[in-house]
Amino acid sequence: MAGATNLPYRMLCRRFGAGLTVTEMVSAKALSFRDGKTWSLLERSPLEEPLSAQVFGTVPAEMAEAARAIEGAGFHLVDVNMGCPVPKIAGSGAGCSLMKDPRDAAAVIEAMARAVSIPVTVKMRAGWDEERRNAPDVARAVASAGAAAVTVHGRTRAQLYSGRADLSIIAEVKRSVPIPVLGNGDVDSPGKALRMFRETGCDGIVIGRGALGTPWIFRDILAVLRTGEAPPPPAAEEVRDHLLGLARDLSRLRGEYTGIRLMRKLSCDFAKGFRDGARFREAAVHIETLADLEALARAFFTPERERTPAPGGEPSRTAAA
Ligand SMILES: Cc1cc2nc3c(=O)[nH]c(=O)nc-3n(C[C@H](O)[C@H](O)[C@H](O)COP(=O)(O)O)c2cc1C
Repeated sequence: MAGATNLPYRMLCRRFGAGLTVTEMVSAKALSFRDGKTWSLLERSPLEEPLSAQVFGTVPAEMAEAARAIEGAGFHLVDVNMGCPVPKIAGSGAGCSLMKDPRDAAAVIEAMARAVSIPVTVKMRAGWDEERRNAPDVARAVASAGAAAVTVHGRTRAQLYSGRADLSIIAEVKRSVPIPVLGNGDVDSPGKALRMFRETGCDGIVIGRGALGTPWIFRDILAVLRTGEAPPPPAAEEVRDHLLGLARDLSRLRGEYTGIRLMRKLSCDFAKGFRDGARFREAAVHIETLADLEALARAFFTPERERTPAPGGEPSRTAAA
């Protein structure tokens, strides 16, 4: 997720069982200019396998060139962003704009699939707006053009992140194409993961916000799939150790100044579900150094720190949805 996740965060999710990780989106154009900052977003670990790099753009030849560069850098898959709603991306014809005409989406995929031997996959939304919920058409077009799998976030571009993801459109895409379909949107508990599988027939689940501050969601979902019950949530000190481990890894990779600035938002996510989390968050957004974060985390994540009940009473640890 752009600006939210990064190599150390993905590694943490993998340690908890995430089966496939994807870089944040990078610009095809910037890759072709050999832009150093863009390439730094594609930092990876040899332990990260399979790993996908996500790219955005509109021009088939540029997208093919980007796919070649990504394959050359050792990635196992290349994913095309057809879901980003933000004006900077969608306004230039990239991201979700590619869904407006399935022929444009197909032209991009065809050029990329011809250029590389690694799988080319697509991440899309339900459609552009309520009148154009055309994910099944776009999925058919990109599957015919050579896409190896599609992920569908069950919201339109017009919805941004409001309302709830519509699972029925994911089910419709699943019925429309012969390639694997991954369901995405609002999965933040094992119960919601099971519901996504049950109601859509999808082949896998993509988790975004539900993994922010709770990377153990992958372990919990896998446990529920295998045994019907998730392990208890990690104790406060365990959460603290994961948080500080992440901060150290990020500081090593990007330098303490940048690492700690990235940690301001991520740290807030780790306090989710704990009593007095708001007080922790108020302080976390002002941290300047790794030492600041260590002091704050040690004072907050103590053995006595209680969890607040799950919102809406969702039975987050069991198979019930
Ligand atoms: C801060 C943020 C950054 C995101 N960046 C990306 C991105 O780079 N590529 C992408 O395909 N989706 C991105 N998304 C969308 C998520 O991948 C996902 O489709 C969406 O949040 C719905 O799923 P969720 O409810 O599991 O989060 C981003 C979402 C957020 C909130």
